[in-house]
Amino acid sequence: MIIRRFEEKDAQAVSDLIAHTLRAANSRDYSMEYLENDIAHLQPADILGRAGWQHFYVAEESSRIVGCGAIGSYWGKTDESSLFTIFVLPECQGQGIGRKIIKTLEQDEYFLRARRVEIPASITGTPFYLKMGYTYKNGVTQPDEEGLLRLEKRREI
Ligand SMILES: CC(C)(COP(=O)(O)OP(=O)(O)OC[C@H]1O[C@@H](n2cnc3c(N)ncnc32)[C@H](O)[C@@H]1OP(=O)(O)O)[C@@H](O)C(=O)NCCC(=O)NCCS
Repeated sequence: MIIRRFEEKDAQAVSDLIAHTLRAANSRDYSMEYLENDIAHLQPADILGRAGWQHFYVAEESSRIVGCGAIGSYWGKTDESSLFTIFVLPECQGQGIGRKIIKTLEQDEYFLRARRVEIPASITGTPFYLKMGYTYKNGVTQPDEEGLLRLEKRREI
């Protein structure tokens, strides 16, 4: 398994991976209506758009994309960043791929320059991010009006 930067040719595969994972894994925490709305905004053109301002990575195994993740500026700030769009195919979860994606993102310049890194986390992904050392922003442990938990990691730089 390798983790490499996203290329334009990956857009369809990444979009398909996210849609499949959302429907299969996140449906235990969200309605299908909520998930289909997310999926509608994560089409190949949306992924290409995101890759224009985020550093977007894919995990690849035997020429198949099995995971993805991205990091970018938090609302344009130079000392705060965000992790985005972290997904591992359901059949590949629990094998350490998510951890490797986080490790890669935490070596990226957007992470290294940041005093604070935020994750708009799904309910489904939150236990994993807590395991990766992120904590609840402002101690808020319940999802907000968008159905997301805001997690963060603070750093000395
Ligand atoms: C969350 C996700 C990215 C984790 O990827 P993964 O490859 O399964 O994670 P890993 O195998 O690298 O797990 C790393 C550690 O986190 C733990 N972990 C992973 N998911 C967990 C969960 N739901 N609850 C508790 N611990 C979890 C693992 O046990 C492992 O701990 P260990 O190293 O001590 O054994 C993946 O499960 C996923 O895509 N989930 C659905 C989509 C989603 O919600 N993504 C987040 C969007 S914000």
